Amino acid sequence: MKILVLHGPNLNLLGTREPGVYGSVTLEEINRMLGSLASELGCELEIFQSNSEGALVDRIQAAATDVSGILINPAAYTHTSVAIRDALAAVGVPTVEVHLSNIHSREEFRSHSYIAPIAKGQICGFGPDSYLLGLRALFTLIKK
Ligand code: DQA
Repeated sequence: MKILVLHGPNLNLLGTREPGVYGSVTLEEINRMLGSLASELGCELEIFQSNSEGALVDRIQAAATDVSGILINPAAYTHTSVAIRDALAAVGVPTVEVHLSNIHSREEFRSHSYIAPIAKGQICGFGPDSYLLGLRALFTLIKK
């Protein structure tokens, strides 16, 4: 089983980016934690970060043929991107949406997600654990 992990814009800056909101763990560390969990579960991961909407759409389109699930933190595109939502809907690969912060307890514009209605579920507010919980949830869902 191969799972695609997608990180959206500005997540490459984790560790130094607004640590009061996002904590001090870097994206590299999150990817390492995901890698260990994937080995424990027995699945393969492909990890991709981009600051560009088009690059994320291209990777999602390619996922139609080569992955069993998508774990995505669309970051700011959560709140703006019909293109990413449409790409996920088009490929129809089971998707779990994750966020480090609780997007429902922040500015009002963050509580709306274009992705949530086409995702299997959304996990937010647990810092890096949101990704780990999301991976477990996606793995269990695909196995069923
Ligand atoms: C985020 C929340 C988004 O609102 C924000 O734009 C991000 C990160 C999170 O993981 O908490 O870039 O997706």
